[in-house]
Amino acid sequence: MTISFEGRVAIVTGAGGGLGRAYALELARRGARVVVNDLGGARDGTGHSDAALNVVEEIAAEGGEAMSDGGSVTEYDQMVEMVAKAKEKWGGVHILINNAGVLRDKSFVKMEPADFKFVVDVHLNGSANCTKAVWETMREQNYGRILMTASSTGLYGNFGQANYGAAKLGLAGLTKTLYLEGAKYGIKVNTIAPVAGTRMTEDIFPEEAFKAFAPENVVPAALYLVCEDAPTNAIIGAGAGVVHAAYVTMTQGALLPADDRTPEAVERLWSRITDRTGEIVPQSGAEQSMVILRHLQGG
Ligand code: NAI
Repeated sequence: MTISFEGRVAIVTGAGGGLGRAYALELARRGARVVVNDLGGARDGTGHSDAALNVVEEIAAEGGEAMSDGGSVTEYDQMVEMVAKAKEKWGGVHILINNAGVLRDKSFVKMEPADFKFVVDVHLNGSANCTKAVWETMREQNYGRILMTASSTGLYGNFGQANYGAAKLGLAGLTKTLYLEGAKYGIKVNTIAPVAGTRMTEDIFPEEAFKAFAPENVVPAALYLVCEDAPTNAIIGAGAGVVHAAYVTMTQGALLPADDRTPEAVERLWSRITDRTGEIVPQSGAEQSMVILRHLQGG
């Protein structure tokens, strides 16, 4: 069945270029009215431009409906204002794609605390700001679709990106609590870890790969994750047309003998502790305690 966004209002942050622009264009083609947010800075977050306005014009040229917003995701008040503008014009906000991002890569030894803070502020606090700004509206509507943007760095690590990786795994963590808090109100929250040839990766990808990894190839996964029948609490990787899932899992572990709760016992039982047989994917933190209790009950 065709996936339509007719009647939906979507906010895409950082949509002045790269992945956000591709999401915004396709959402509009499929009927959504789109807020194109972007302050239009450089890759490291400095400066301003009309990037958002240009994408709004592209959408309008294709017959779609969009408005631009030049607010910074780091400023909660600006995000509240953006949501108010969208509601005033279109009556609600149904979809939020937290996509805005910056890079300040350096090995940890050379990374200034200010650059650590700034990157965490844009990605993690920025996404929390936008989400908080739409949350009450989505609860009232009994409908919301929120997508957080993580990264392979957050999920698996990458040399030189300690700040970025910390923020990105934080976003997967934010998803995992918000999906629980939003469930009762028809709010679904997912995480995407994209791989795309954009200005963020232009000096990493060779030219051929850059083309294969066009942002348009991430759009199908991102749009599925914010559609009516979207899953919730999924972590989905997408790049060059390949889509996969990632999980935070838990092994069954081992119970240390009552008379030997020592580091030596952990060392001795290490292979059982880390044995992946019977591994589970907990759906909430409480499941960790349930596994522990089962051990205590001799199960
Ligand atoms: P991009 O640099 O083209 O897009 C990021 C956009 O966010 C820019 O247009 C920028 O102006 C905007 N932005 C930055 N700070 C902002 C702020 N404070 N408020 C509003 N907008 C702001 O890069 P790309 O690749 O499209 O990145 C999109 C998202 O995907 C980012 O969160 C990035 O970390 C993530 N990502 C990208 C990957 C890739 O392979 N390109 C890999 C993993 C994650």
